[in-house]
Amino acid sequence: MRSQGKLVNTEAGLVSRRIFADQEIYRLEMERIFHRCWLFLGHESMIPRPGDYITNYMGEDPVIVWRDARGSARAFLNTCPHRGNKVCLYDVGRAAALTCSYHGWTFNSEGALVGVPSFEEAYYGQLDRTRWGLVEVPKVVTYGGFIFGNWDAGAISLEEYLGEFRWYFDNLIIHEEMGGLEVIPGCQRYSIVGNWKLFCDNFSGDHYHTPSTHASASRVGVGGGEARETGQGKYGYFEVALAPAHGLGGIFTDGSQYRRDLARAEELGPEVLAYVTERQRRLEERIKEIPAKPYGFSHGNCFPNLDMVGFSSALIDHDFLLCHPKGRDASEIWQWTFIERAAPDIVKDLAARSASRGQAPAGLFGQDDCENFERITENTLTPMADKLTFHYAMSVGYDGEWPGHEEWHTQGLPGLVGPQNWETSQRRYYAYWAQLMGMEA
Ligand code: FES
Ligand SMILES: [Fe+2]
Repeated sequence: MRSQGKLVNTEAGLVSRRIFADQEIYRLEMERIFHRCWLFLGHESMIPRPGDYITNYMGEDPVIVWRDARGSARAFLNTCPHRGNKVCLYDVGRAAALTCSYHGWTFNSEGALVGVPSFEEAYYGQLDRTRWGLVEVPKVVTYGGFIFGNWDAGAISLEEYLGEFRWYFDNLIIHEEMGGLEVIPGCQRYSIVGNWKLFCDNFSGDHYHTPSTHASASRVGVGGGEARETGQGKYGYFEVALAPAHGLGGIFTDGSQYRRDLARAEELGPEVLAYVTERQRRLEERIKEIPAKPYGFSHGNCFPNLDMVGFSSALIDHDFLLCHPKGRDASEIWQWTFIERAAPDIVKDLAARSASRGQAPAGLFGQDDCENFERITENTLTPMADKLTFHYAMSVGYDGEWPGHEEWHTQGLPGLVGPQNWETSQRRYYAYWAQLMGMEA
């Protein structure tokens, strides 16, 4: 890696274009980011019974997330220790054991090698089966139904890693008393042109792009209507930077999101109205200690590559988007839709239908964003790119001191709360990225 000054300059808010295009940096990311951070593996509702599994990726490494016979969620590299074939060939399924399609070695849900064809005749007793099980992810932890894994056995705890994001996770995502979330079966997957960080920093706090990138969607009335395009009200639209490097945005504290849901619930009938009212009663009870009254948020990122959208309403799809790196200039988005377990069926149907319309491969928002990322990527790969930066310097020096912030109704919200137009979350995202990469920032 060539060094020409800082690649990430948080003080100036400048990030070199090289970090989105350099092969060596990309290779190091696989080791220093994706082998050290807590990564989203799946959700309990995806593998409810012993033997249930899904396949996923941790960085570029394919993994099997498997509930073992005793009921614990575990994760294994999806590669046969014999000669490297994938052991599990399906996205989702249930099995007490999986047999590799190449030579037939068989592994149980604890990863143990339990079957070797011609074991006696071919190996003459020389193969120690206890040494040739699947490679297991050393740390797998479930938080509020969400399963995370970490390759680093010495990593900080998941709770510590989630940091200030935990409060929002507990109160605005999981809604535990409503039974938590459950996945709506299926996963929208799509390939995009662009380095994985371009996609993720956008979710961490880039409300700024909404009025221009998504202007056409707003004009035809598809989502985004709640975003105020100018000015910063006392009650919203707030962004939040959460230590160590997570970001959320689109938070209102004026009760308007709840009132909008109530009006819609009245149209949908008494069952939905009762659900929305009870959900709000529980939320108010949970967060009664703090003066601010948030209802939800519209977008977010849990470092490094778990993005979120659709948590501003009880009546729409809540989506988690995992941005898998597929090379320095390509990514694959895996998008799951969730809804509260306790939601009436009519709400679950609404969520399933709305999941493809907004931030989705066939939705207006997803296409708007990805066209930008494709054009940006071309401009990270040119001869001139090495000399150029990206500008994340909006309101540098104003963090915590934005004009008028004393009036905001955000008291008690964890993290650094800022205005709708800022780049603080992105600056913190890249500062943490640089720290993990061993670079000065
Ligand atoms: S590669 Fe799996 S059994 Fe040979
Ligand atoms: Fe967008």
